[in-house]
Amino acid sequence: MRSIHYPAEALAAVEEFRPDVVLLDLNFTIETSGRGGMKLLRELLAAHPELPVIQMTGWATVQLAVEGMKAGARDFIAKPWDNHELLNAIQAQLNKGGGAAGASRSQKEADPFDSITGTSQGLKQVVEQARRVAPTQASVLITGESGTGKELIAEAIHAASKRARGPFVAVNLGGVPEGLFESELFGHKAGAFTDARADRKGRFELAEGGTLFLDEVGDLAPAAQVKLLRVLQERQYERLGESKPRPTDVRILSATSRNLDAMVAAGTFREDLLYRINLIHLHLPALRERPEDIAPLAEHFLASARRRYERPKLNLTNEAVAWLRRQPFPGNVRQLQNLIERTAILSTEDTLSVEQLERQSGDRPAATNFAPSGVTLEQMEIRMIRAALGRNGGEITATARELGLTRAALYRRVEKYGIET
Ligand SMILES: Nc1ncnc2c1ncn2[C@@H]1O[C@H](COP(=O)(O)OP(=O)(O)OP(=O)(O)O)[C@@H](O)[C@H]1O
Ligand SMILES: [Mg+2]
Repeated sequence: MRSIHYPAEALAAVEEFRPDVVLLDLNFTIETSGRGGMKLLRELLAAHPELPVIQMTGWATVQLAVEGMKAGARDFIAKPWDNHELLNAIQAQLNKGGGAAGASRSQKEADPFDSITGTSQGLKQVVEQARRVAPTQASVLITGESGTGKELIAEAIHAASKRARGPFVAVNLGGVPEGLFESELFGHKAGAFTDARADRKGRFELAEGGTLFLDEVGDLAPAAQVKLLRVLQERQYERLGESKPRPTDVRILSATSRNLDAMVAAGTFREDLLYRINLIHLHLPALRERPEDIAPLAEHFLASARRRYERPKLNLTNEAVAWLRRQPFPGNVRQLQNLIERTAILSTEDTLSVEQLERQSGDRPAATNFAPSGVTLEQMEIRMIRAALGRNGGEITATARELGLTRAALYRRVEKYGIET
């Protein structure tokens, strides 16, 4: 921890100390326009593009902070700040492991597999296997229906690996248009194609020293499969528009809800690529195949609702738990999670009954579901913001996007209602 009071010192200090994160007060000059801070921010990021900078600014200058975000700052905190919020923002940047030093995380972290809830043999076996392969460099393929917890397992494997301090970079291969595949994964040089105005790092480069999570790997087009295979075999890649190969040191985790063996048999997925990505194969059973997990999972999601909505008495009747166990849950754990959250948000009572769950579990939420009596619009807004913050790990940008708000609008509400992030 080092405090700098003169802008001229800042660049030199960053060179010397290689901080993991920088807190930058934008209003350090007399006229408090924040212009001095913005200039320093740009200088810092020009010299160290990866440096996580958290801006601090007064409410009157939130606009300035937005400008800073566009310039590459990672977050901003409004003054007067809330200590808890500040610590969370710093922690979030440290967890991303993007610091200049990238080393020296001090606290001992909790068991990364702790959050994976369930008592069924099926789940316990997967967690046990995941625990064993986590410290190795082995590529792991995680299969299972949508919402079974594939990404959760991948994150836990990374967090329990020797690369835990490096980045965890996820890329949804189902969402990358074929023409942008190489740019997205390998990056490009400015001018490599018409829209390539500036150099861009690809996911491999961003994941260097850490883990690359290839989500929806079964959605890859044949041409992209060839390109990916080549990089995995040769352990090097080229940015588009460059000829110099760059070596890569990433661990590959993949996930898909498709049956890759069947795709190989049908000729739509390359066998040699499958062989590369599934040294270890973990399969998450569907929730209906492990109904024992439903009660502990419901309690797990209820516990987080208690904390998040500050309703310590929230509980489920025994009949409600029994009813939940009988549901087929085609959307698996995610569907159960949504059901518990939605019912908790919309219920005015602390005890959640079968009737309340049933009302929320229709395929399409009927209009009446969203007009609970006895809850004010303001209360609903507070609960929805808390729920979205929880789902997004307190990340303001992601939460704002989910709620359809700008970051500034979200901050205003967070402050107005005194919501802890
Ligand atoms: N065993 C579990 N314990 C606690 N939470 C879980 C568990 N399994 C899944 N979840 C939660 O359920 C949600 C869905 O999980 P996740 O996103 O990992 O599923 P997925 O298999 O990647 O789904 P998709 O195929 O749709 O991408 C997440 O919020 C996750 O935290
Ligand atoms: Mg997923």
